[in-house]
Amino acid sequence: MEYAVTIHQAVRTFGATRAVDGVDLQIPKNSVYALLGPNGAGKTTLVRMIATLLRPTSGEIMVFGKHVVRRADEVRRDISLTGQFASLDEELTGSENMRMLTRLYGYRSSGANMRADELLEAFGLLDAGSRQVKNYSGGMRRRLDIAASLVVQPRIICLDEPTTGLDPRSRNMVWTVVRQLAASGTTVLLTTQYLEEADQLSDRIAVIDRGRIIAEGTSGELKQLIGSAKLHIRLHNAGERERALEVLETVEGVTIVRDIDSAALSCDISGTVDGYEVLGKLVREGIAVDEFSFGRPSLDDVFFMLTREDPSQL
Ligand SMILES: Nc1ncnc2c1ncn2[C@@H]1O[C@H](COP(=O)(O)OP(=O)(O)O)[C@@H](O)[C@H]1O
Ligand SMILES: [Mg+2]
Repeated sequence: MEYAVTIHQAVRTFGATRAVDGVDLQIPKNSVYALLGPNGAGKTTLVRMIATLLRPTSGEIMVFGKHVVRRADEVRRDISLTGQFASLDEELTGSENMRMLTRLYGYRSSGANMRADELLEAFGLLDAGSRQVKNYSGGMRRRLDIAASLVVQPRIICLDEPTTGLDPRSRNMVWTVVRQLAASGTTVLLTTQYLEEADQLSDRIAVIDRGRIIAEGTSGELKQLIGSAKLHIRLHNAGERERALEVLETVEGVTIVRDIDSAALSCDISGTVDGYEVLGKLVREGIAVDEFSFGRPSLDDVFFMLTREDPSQL
């Protein structure tokens, strides 16, 4: 079996709201998979169904081949969920929280303490372990929350918006944790509103909007969806710009974007055109190029293209 999770036509309604509205999805084992979408898209609802915390209204969800409703107890042994809102005891120290959890999971006292310290160390929290959680920064809390869900290493972990509200430094630490988890063989399902995060961390991305998957693939594939890349050129001699434009206009799949700068040129090149070929044409015409760069479309562009809405306006 290649998939950690397979979802067939999953629906979840809350009254008249179709929070998840017919989702088909397959999450490969040992991968990092991102559910990317704006607030209210249905990410948490989908994750909670996968984690057996919410029953699908209809449809089938299997986790490592086990049905999330019929074999919920077995699924729970394989899966760990870290919520958008951490559930730690504020009054206890980080170390006390972890020791309590390790005991709950069946470790005996000395083993519990060892496992707790091991996790605190792995998440850079050993020194902070003696402080009360209420005095932790957002990033420390989030890391402790992830550590808490790893007392027993799960086959799959669901991280629901693990970096929402974090400063860039804390966000980077959480990213490191996610990469380490994936490297240790745990399948990671994460939800995010950040296009860059999905791009940076995940092997595959499903873009979710209003309860539906509107696109799925690797970040490269999603970028391909919107087709073109950009080529930026700076000419050695601004006087050759008109001639350069004439050359580029003859190349199929190249659309020129005028720059204000008199020595610069930008063009959109379609997915099938090799940017270096385009450059080569200029060089063969004896037009000297000082600098060039290729730009790929961002996932923001993809989202905008797919939904025709600016995600920051949602
Ligand atoms: N327990 C609930 N009761 C009623 N409506 C809900 C409940 N949970 C989620 N919803 C609604 O379902 C939709 C999807 O929510 P959610 O899954 O939390 O989205 P996301 O996690 O992507 O922000 C929203 O319209 C939300 O208001
Ligand atoms: Mg959510």
